[in-house]
Amino acid sequence: MSVDLRGRSLLSLDELTDEEIDHLLATAAAMRTPDRSAPLRGVSVALVFLNPSLRTRLAGETAMADLGGHAAVLSPGTDAWKWETRDGAVMDGDTVEHLRDAVGTISSMVRGLGIRSFAGMKSWAEDAAEPLLKAVVAASACPVYNLESAQDHPLQSLADLLAMREAVGPTLHGKTFVLAWAPHPKPLPMAVPFAALRAAARAGMKIRISCPEGFAPDTAFLRAPVEVVHDRAAAGDVVYCKSWGAPSLYGKWDEEKALRARHRDWTVDAARLGNARFMHCLPMRRNVEATDEVVDGPNSLVRHQARNRLLVQKAVFLETLRP
Ligand code: CP
Repeated sequence: MSVDLRGRSLLSLDELTDEEIDHLLATAAAMRTPDRSAPLRGVSVALVFLNPSLRTRLAGETAMADLGGHAAVLSPGTDAWKWETRDGAVMDGDTVEHLRDAVGTISSMVRGLGIRSFAGMKSWAEDAAEPLLKAVVAASACPVYNLESAQDHPLQSLADLLAMREAVGPTLHGKTFVLAWAPHPKPLPMAVPFAALRAAARAGMKIRISCPEGFAPDTAFLRAPVEVVHDRAAAGDVVYCKSWGAPSLYGKWDEEKALRARHRDWTVDAARLGNARFMHCLPMRRNVEATDEVVDGPNSLVRHQARNRLLVQKAVFLETLRP
């Protein structure tokens, strides 16, 4: 059966079949050969960033340029009117335009709308419900691309899957994927850790989370076995380094800070990595999350992952927006 993704949104890896993932990754890999045919000539998308970005923004803009189309980048509150996101809000403060009006307007002018909006980090239940992403989808008249939401980052998942297939081997099934918690000055959200776990689970990898006590996330959504170890040296085929705030103290960040500070020795160094491949989505706090030796070492896939962000972005735009 042929894969047809035209007109589809991309909100999570969970919405793609295995066949659709394979098709997108094959399309992404083929993008290494420049395509001068401008298959998306005349097609525009809008990429809305409520939070900063380097890779996602550059990949989105470059992907559309390479495919002959156009990407308009908007940063509400900076270069566009600041959004009000609360339903029923009396807008007599500093917000100028309601999300529903902004998204309704944007989606009437473009063929696809990307949205980046990080977790509020106040309530686990609220962040897990993805209220902003859902509000954008509800208000949009065109397909929506999740450019990182409260708890997911599907374009990172696809780039990471492609990097693992290319570097570890096409058959990832049965290989061990270690999600390695790392120190960080600030509590970070679960979007990338969960996106990485989704990628590993879809590849059929054995999943191990290596984290201090109090940092084990609820991974029931994965519907795959997950081993949690409170051991820094948790050898595997792949070590995916990422920091996140302690779920056991979610929203109580003053209390959580003291717990996190006790684990500054969880930096991924050569001993913790062992012979595994090293992965990180970037940006990274060097010599806090992982040492220079590891990040710049022969087993590091960080450049590969970053390069793949452009390839998968082109594949997703081409496959969802092509005539
Ligand atoms: N990995 C990633 O999404 O990078 P940016 O935050 O720079 O977009």
